Amino acid sequence: MKNIAVFVSGYGTNLQAMINRIAKGTLRVNLKLVLSDKSSAFALRRAKKAGIPAFFVDPKKFTHKNDYEHHLISLLEDEKIDFIVLAGFMRILGPVFLKKYKNRILNIHPALLPAFKGAHAIHDAYEYGAKVTGVTVHFVDEKIDNGPIIMQEVVSVGDHETMSQLEKRIHKVEHGIYSEAIQKVCDNRFSIRGRRVVLRAKIR
Ligand code: GAR
Repeated sequence: MKNIAVFVSGYGTNLQAMINRIAKGTLRVNLKLVLSDKSSAFALRRAKKAGIPAFFVDPKKFTHKNDYEHHLISLLEDEKIDFIVLAGFMRILGPVFLKKYKNRILNIHPALLPAFKGAHAIHDAYEYGAKVTGVTVHFVDEKIDNGPIIMQEVVSVGDHETMSQLEKRIHKVEHGIYSEAIQKVCDNRFSIRGRRVVLRAKIR
C-alpha cells in the first residue's frame, strides 16, 4: 500500500471522508501524516481524533518559501510518503516542492476546470449562473488549478437552488470522487500522456 500525506488548511471534510473510507476498507492507502499551514484548522483535530500524526507547520517561521518547502519535504521523507493529497490546502506550492513530487501531488477543486479557478469556485459558478458545475481532481503543476485532470464529475445547478444547497451537493460529490481518484493513482492505474491522464480499470 502507498503512503500518503494530506495537506489541509481548513475544516477537513475531505480529510474526514478519506479517514472514514480507510476505516471501512474502501480506500486502501496508509494515511501517515496530516500537515496544515493554519494552526486553527479543524482538520488537525479530525486527524488527531483518528490517531493520525498531524502537525501545524508555520510558514511564517521560515524566511524563504524554499526553506519552508525543504522542511515539509524532510517531514514527508521521514514517513516515506509516496503521494501528497491537497484537501483544502490554500497555499501555492513552489518549484522546490513541485520538482521533488512531480506527478505525485493531487488536488481537488470544486468546479469543472478550467472554469472557475481560484479560492471561491462554488460561489463564482453560482453567481455566474452556470447550469452545470462540478468537481475536478487533478495533478498539481506550477500553475494554479491547472495540472492534468485525473477525474471530473458534473453537478447540475437547480434553477431554484440556494448557494448553500449547491455547496452541500458539491461537497458530497468531492468526498466520493477524491477517494476514487486517490485509489487509482496509488494503485498505479494511470498514465499521463501530455495533458491527458489515462485511467485503467482494476483487473480482477
Ligand atoms: C473543498 O471544497 C475543496 O474543493 C476546496 O476547498 C474545500 C475544502 O473543504 N479547494 C479549493 O477551492 C482549491 N482551489 P474541506 O476542508 O472541508 O475538505
